[in-house]
Amino acid sequence: MSSSQMIQPVIGIIGGSGLYDIDGLENKNWCEVETPWGQPSDALLCGELGGVRCVFLPRHGRDHRIPPSELNFRANIDALKRLGVTDVLSLSAVGSLREVLSPGTFVIVDQFIDRTLARKKSFFSTGCVAHVGMGHPTAQRINDVIETEAAALQLPITRGGTYLVMEGPQFSTHAESRLYQSWGCDVIGMTNMPEAKLIREAEMCYASIAMVTDYDCWHEDHDSVTVTDVVKVMKNNAAAARTLLQRVIPKLGEKRGLCPSGAERALDHAIITPHQK
Ligand code: ADE
Repeated sequence: MSSSQMIQPVIGIIGGSGLYDIDGLENKNWCEVETPWGQPSDALLCGELGGVRCVFLPRHGRDHRIPPSELNFRANIDALKRLGVTDVLSLSAVGSLREVLSPGTFVIVDQFIDRTLARKKSFFSTGCVAHVGMGHPTAQRINDVIETEAAALQLPITRGGTYLVMEGPQFSTHAESRLYQSWGCDVIGMTNMPEAKLIREAEMCYASIAMVTDYDCWHEDHDSVTVTDVVKVMKNNAAAARTLLQRVIPKLGEKRGLCPSGAERALDHAIITPHQK
């Protein structure tokens, strides 16, 4: 491979509920970024970890004031791209749809079912029509690193899982929760879509670490989900996630060729509108 095809990765981290900054960053500063899509959730924390450039975005803002349906996903993803990010690690709190995925477990998600209804899901609209492939939305290359580093820390983590993305902000009804189980979903949350779709359109690589806080409402030993229960587990999960990031980011920062996921060339064969001369 010629040196021109080598990539010096910049790691983007999207922190979900409970994760509002990251530890150990050097040369750090909070950067305000303007985008054609409006305001991102907050300023972005730029810095270096183990010599690797990284950019952190608190998904709901540092004071957790933006609900899932009102997140400006396009501005958030555009801001990461403008700051040079190549690989995005998304962390989010989720409910579990399976007995074995108890609260405190992490899941390296590899599939999604998008049940969101009220969100802007594409950077493309009238004038330029594009259809990117979403068959494999996450990068196995990044998932390998997460799995290895989590094992070294003895974190309870499962490789592979389907994340049902619901609109919210209310939690599911019992019937919905059972329906999603019957579809084979493993975890449920409110934020990974359209995040994953927009990251693919922006030709960045994506990995999602889902951190289980509760059993949703299907479990016979549990009542409805409450924020109080979620927050209790979320704090421990966030502490484990911070430790994991300290190991994963330096590994992902090594110079590399194009990602085998093809994410970095996603637009090569996606635009259907003829080029205007
Ligand atoms: N986030 C954390 N727990 C959740 C649940 N049970 N449903 C949807 N989003 C969640």
